[in-house]
Amino acid sequence: MKLAQFYDRAWKSYAAITPDAPKIHSLLSARGEKVINDHIAIRTFNIEGIGRLELGKHFETMGYQRQEGDLDFPEKKLKATYWCHPDKLLPKIFISELLLEKCNAELSTWVRGFAKQKSSAELFFERGWDPVRFEDYSRFYPMSEYAAWTAAFGICINHFTVFINELKTFDGIVSLNGFLKQNGFQLNSAGGEIKGSRSDCLEQSSTLARRIPWQFADGNSHEVMSCYYEFALRYPKPGSKELFQGFVPESANKIFESTFERN
Ligand code: NI
Repeated sequence: MKLAQFYDRAWKSYAAITPDAPKIHSLLSARGEKVINDHIAIRTFNIEGIGRLELGKHFETMGYQRQEGDLDFPEKKLKATYWCHPDKLLPKIFISELLLEKCNAELSTWVRGFAKQKSSAELFFERGWDPVRFEDYSRFYPMSEYAAWTAAFGICINHFTVFINELKTFDGIVSLNGFLKQNGFQLNSAGGEIKGSRSDCLEQSSTLARRIPWQFADGNSHEVMSCYYEFALRYPKPGSKELFQGFVPESANKIFESTFERN
């Protein structure tokens, strides 16, 4: 698959379940901005056929290079890897996976029951398995929001991320966040609206996911949290002219919570 075609399909399927993203994209375009993505993120399980490294191979065939150094999120039982493209204006690919052997045995059995899949590029555009039961989603949600979300939505794109450095009409993440709030969007404030700092070489913020009606097994529809839109501003490492290209685990840990159910 050609990258342009991949991103076109990926954005369409993401925008269809993330109502805020196309709205924000349009608002930015109306200001004359050309939106470039810093990264896209994908969630999966460490099951043979759909593990993060296997999914990453699809991107390697499209010219992406896997980066050394896995990211660990022990509290959420996740491991992640990212891929970069030689063309710096193409988004990085961030793929995390839930380490099932570290999870509750019943949860792990549940996931292994529905997530028997061969890795295919189609997985990125649609839920690759039959709808799960809402009862199971609700039961396992408190054990792992990540598992429940991925069970419901599949290995689609969890978020796109606007690359703030390429925006011309904002002088930083604070002014962009202000613009988003002025336009009625809610930001994820877990750990503060801005995750990371200039000294981390990466500042990030994100909208909060919204509830959308979603199809579960037996034709039942329920309102659940879908995806969010993220924003990232990068700085060079001290003494370097190149922008930092990696991720900051503590920030990413809080960003994961953008899909959390809230009261
Ligand atoms: Ni992200």
